[in-house]
Amino acid sequence: MSKPKVIVTRKWPIEVEAQLKSLYDVQLNESDTPMTADELKHALLTADALLPTVTDLITADILNIEGKRTKIIGNFGVGYNNIDINAAKSQGLVVTNTPHVLTDCTADIAMLLLLMSARRASEGERLLRNRQWTGWRPTHMLGQKVTGKTLGLIGFGRIAQAMAKKAHYGFGMKILFYAPSQPAQSIIDDLQATRCETVEELLIEANFVSLHCPGGDATRHLINEQRLKLMRPSAHLINTARGDVVDSKALIKALKEGWIAGAGLDVFEGEPNIDPDFLELDNVTLLPHLGSATEETRIAMGNRVLENIAAFFAGEEPGDRVA
Ligand code: DGY
Repeated sequence: MSKPKVIVTRKWPIEVEAQLKSLYDVQLNESDTPMTADELKHALLTADALLPTVTDLITADILNIEGKRTKIIGNFGVGYNNIDINAAKSQGLVVTNTPHVLTDCTADIAMLLLLMSARRASEGERLLRNRQWTGWRPTHMLGQKVTGKTLGLIGFGRIAQAMAKKAHYGFGMKILFYAPSQPAQSIIDDLQATRCETVEELLIEANFVSLHCPGGDATRHLINEQRLKLMRPSAHLINTARGDVVDSKALIKALKEGWIAGAGLDVFEGEPNIDPDFLELDNVTLLPHLGSATEETRIAMGNRVLENIAAFFAGEEPGDRVA
């Protein structure tokens, strides 16, 4: 029997690509350049499985192409707002993602951004690199103490809970969260966490606010001008979720006018094109979507996709099916 044809849209860790080569008739992307909409359509016509990632926009127009050969889309990423899920469902396509394996590394980056923002780490390093440091002095570059402060998490899924654990047990932080559904009482008890009834209540209370909700229409600009104005002037906003959860223009205004003290961002509206005003601000820490970027995690994400498509081709239900 011939091997299923699989198309991978970007370069993957070498170990996982080797596995793909041994198991499938695979088309890899050696140049690592993003595929165009036409190339993605062609992939759907010619492959049994398409393996895109979170930066590939798989729109309804692409998914509705007539004469598709593809039956499964194995997304490399836990977020799948890059795929029009309703269109995929109506086309009878199976879609999978890669949960669990990136939880800790993404929570680590959220904690890193929190610490960097609170302690002005990027600003300090820039000062050194620009050879502008004139020496220690009692009032130089004072930031905010992290230990013992209140962390508010918007969204309380796996990554938020992992961050809460690190913050509570590592830094003695008090945990608040806002989530549409009620988590298990044992999780709340373990973290001595408090559930807020509204986003507003959390924003007013927290010293640090970290975003952990999915992207998409339901959460677009959840953090807007009105809500940023509720935060404390000494508070910091951390975003490792999706860029469009925050209204960038409103955040820039908040950072310029001192409604909040700082922000730490790993994700951006319209990334990789960043609003140039962010680059002019000293009180924002910027990372290029590094949440899951460790060797261990990216290999594990690739393996997760492999497990999902292997199950599908064996006629079984893939473990991480989202459509
Ligand atoms: C995801 O998986 O959704 C992240 O944004 C990239 O790891």
